[in-house]
Amino acid sequence: MSNTIGSVIGGRPAGGTPAGTVSSPNPSRLADVVAEVQLADAATFAAACAEAKRAQPAWAATPAPVRGRAIAAIGRIVEANKEALGRLVTRELGKPRGEALGEVQEIIDTCDFFLGEGRRLYGQTVPSEMPDKQLFTFRVPVGAAAVVTAGNFPVAVPSWYLVPALVAGNTVVWKPAEYAAASALALFELFQAAGLPDGVLNLVFADGAATFAGLEQALREGSVDKIGFTGSTAVGRQIGELAGRHLQVPCLELGGKNPMVITPSADIALAVEGALFSGFGTAGQRCTSLGSIIVHESLHDEFLDRFAAATSAAAVGDPTQDVLYGPMLDQKFADRFEEYLGWIQPHHKVLGSSGLGRISAGNPRDGFAGDPEAGLFYHPTIVDGVQPGDALFLQETFGPIVGVVTYGRLDEAIALANTPGYGLSSAVYTNDPHDAFRFRQGISAGMVSVNNSTSGAEAHLPFGGNGLSGNGSRQSGIWVLDQFTRWQAMNWDYSGRLQKAQMDVAEITPDLGYRLES
Ligand code: UN1
Repeated sequence: MSNTIGSVIGGRPAGGTPAGTVSSPNPSRLADVVAEVQLADAATFAAACAEAKRAQPAWAATPAPVRGRAIAAIGRIVEANKEALGRLVTRELGKPRGEALGEVQEIIDTCDFFLGEGRRLYGQTVPSEMPDKQLFTFRVPVGAAAVVTAGNFPVAVPSWYLVPALVAGNTVVWKPAEYAAASALALFELFQAAGLPDGVLNLVFADGAATFAGLEQALREGSVDKIGFTGSTAVGRQIGELAGRHLQVPCLELGGKNPMVITPSADIALAVEGALFSGFGTAGQRCTSLGSIIVHESLHDEFLDRFAAATSAAAVGDPTQDVLYGPMLDQKFADRFEEYLGWIQPHHKVLGSSGLGRISAGNPRDGFAGDPEAGLFYHPTIVDGVQPGDALFLQETFGPIVGVVTYGRLDEAIALANTPGYGLSSAVYTNDPHDAFRFRQGISAGMVSVNNSTSGAEAHLPFGGNGLSGNGSRQSGIWVLDQFTRWQAMNWDYSGRLQKAQMDVAEITPDLGYRLES
């Protein structure tokens, strides 16, 4: 059974299918169509932005503590629907139950953090250099935000944008990934149930081309003040260029090639556990997923044996069962993953499974849970003997594949970790504090784990990357407020005369030549 879903603008269904429809299938049972999605065109996207812009002044005029109450209500409503939303995420994106529930928890955590921000959103009172004058700072909402998100975290990552944007007094047009449309609509409904006024949050389903053209139009018309984008580095570049032409700085959360360095003092069992979770959890489809293991040459053989054994033994398959990971999110990720597998070269050694590529009756995975032919399931793949010049080392490979290289000195390991030019997440396994802090200092990543995997960031620390992973913007915690507010400086002179800064300032006269008697 499938249901047809479409965009919601200004509280009303947008109706119509100006850009056709796509279906969003269950990736672990492709015959199960979760939703038929009506796609909007560029003009509809721009109309949604105009609606958000129209609704913004009244929302900004709603007292911030009242907006905070709305966020509190969203958190409670999501919590009450945790099971149902988690089930939908498992059905539409193939995340195992534990991960799907964790993802919903991340929304609740985000609401818990920001509900109080409605009563803070602090500005400062600042002393003036003149008498009878006072200085202040205020946080001002940016305006209408267009938020474009990927589907690998179909509900948690969108909440990282929507919640702080709304509490700070912005309105939003949210364009989720088409292959995560049903989960997106469910989250949208939970937000609406909190009583947001019409037009404050708008949902648009559109493909990439229509979204880009719609954004271009909305920017020209002045109805988008901030873009938030989570997705590929290639599209992030285009969005950055477009925003730059309109003198805007987008919030970009892009790809990663996240390294894990294992030093001679590491606890190998812990490192294996971390590598397994971050390499293959979510079928390697997190932006924080492990890319390359950079292991000290003295530990290489022991680590690899244990990691390969753990990977071979891991349960893969039907995400409603107790598995480490389920299917690829969508056909397009499966297709791209096949391309990445083509980067494996003769000097590489492949380990970790009973086969390579798509799992099927003819290419079985030992211990597979369920029917592999029903969905988009892939063998976990460890590639040993990777060299720093290999495509597998340099490029993001979204999917269940992890490369292994060796190093001799820690400086070499850090240089290797920085070589691909991404800079999202990173990990070091060590019991030597010198190594931990040298790694932190040298690594280009925005996030550093010590004796923990590259994925699984908590929802109240700054999340974001540098280089190919983003433009330095940070989400989550207090830091994301700088994305959705601007500082306004105010000075108030109540002296009744013009006091000129830097010129009419009282002076005290120091004796700079003063010296103690020696
Ligand atoms: C992402 O893959 O875009 O740190 C976000 C993590 C999760 C979020 C990942 N909390 O792995």
